[in-house]
Amino acid sequence: MKTIDELLAEGVAGKRVFVRADLNVPLDGTTITDDGRIRAVVPTVAKLAEAGARVIVASHLGRPKGAPDPAFSLAPAAARLGEILGADVAFATDTVGESARATVAALTDGKVAVIENLRFNTGETAKDDAERGAFADQLAELADVYVGDGFGAVHRKHASVFDLPARLPHYAGFLIATEVGVLKKLTSDVKRPYAVVLGGAKVSDKLGVIDHLLEKADRILIGGGMAYTFLKAQGHEVGISLLQEDQVPAVQGYLKRAEELGVEFVLPVDVLVAGEFPNLKTKAPAHPTTVAADAIPADQQGLDLGPETRKLYASKLADAATVFWNGPMGVFEHPDYAEGTRALAQALVDSPAFSVVGGGDSAAAVRILGFDENAFGHISTGGGASLEYLEGKTLPGLAALED
Ligand code: 3PG
Repeated sequence: MKTIDELLAEGVAGKRVFVRADLNVPLDGTTITDDGRIRAVVPTVAKLAEAGARVIVASHLGRPKGAPDPAFSLAPAAARLGEILGADVAFATDTVGESARATVAALTDGKVAVIENLRFNTGETAKDDAERGAFADQLAELADVYVGDGFGAVHRKHASVFDLPARLPHYAGFLIATEVGVLKKLTSDVKRPYAVVLGGAKVSDKLGVIDHLLEKADRILIGGGMAYTFLKAQGHEVGISLLQEDQVPAVQGYLKRAEELGVEFVLPVDVLVAGEFPNLKTKAPAHPTTVAADAIPADQQGLDLGPETRKLYASKLADAATVFWNGPMGVFEHPDYAEGTRALAQALVDSPAFSVVGGGDSAAAVRILGFDENAFGHISTGGGASLEYLEGKTLPGLAALED
């Protein structure tokens, strides 16, 4: 994989450099609630601009349906990128149309432009190779060189991630180089004990990684909505908690295999419950109660780790040498259900372990809850991407940068 350092050494002054970033940031209307992914690509963009390149930054945001949709515009992200760079950033209101062509043509050396959300074009995510290829051809006309730096999207076989690099000289940006370097440490020669913490809503999103990590990790701690499918798999009733009934047999299989392999699965011993999901807009007090994890009332749902579980999980991380964490422990967006996620983050800060926080949601949670990013070994910008990397899968966006 050629890196941006090689590109800089070759010289980029006057060249149009297409930077595929992941600016898929959480938005509340047009307000960015966590700009971590924008800040993460700044070193690459700034260095290219400093070296005199004409930088075209492109990304997806959300999952629009292949047509322009103002709710998914990259305009707020472009504005924020300009603020962080301390420079004017031009914005094209389309991807490969008149606005993009004119914006790129107007770029001068050292200047930066952002083009509109790539997913406003059906070709970006098309399953059909020819349709994706046709869009990649149009994107290729905008640039002379490709720099892949959207780590969060490298697991997607999308036109700008997979097909475009085949059409231009291509290099890995600083972010991708860093992310891959860190994740490599978790796959080969990992320092033990190696603890993995998995949370988030759906167990189905994590099956692949659990399957793979059973062979690698020493202990696996489960939180978030997916914990209730595990509790059910152990034979407990979970009331009206989030449950993926169809995944129960798979989870039972994992629990059995873990026992055979000597991998410790750690599940909540108590949880915070309420009759309703909290209102995340008004943040009105939710008045949860704490119950044992095997005594969730039939009309209640679990929404966060209880105090005993928070202590238990901290103790399971205290002596770990390596920790990978993906997925919030509860509905952290509501103050009454943020303690589980906060306690987990604090346990990582307090532990001497090399800690990797993976995932858009858990990375955003860490920042939104006010933790200092530097207190963690690494905060990945990739949710699905880091999980698929750890699953040992070939990631299209990395494979495309290889040759
Ligand atoms: C992410 O948020 O994990 C990346 O930006 C990829 O987004 P996607 O899941 O919509 O492809």
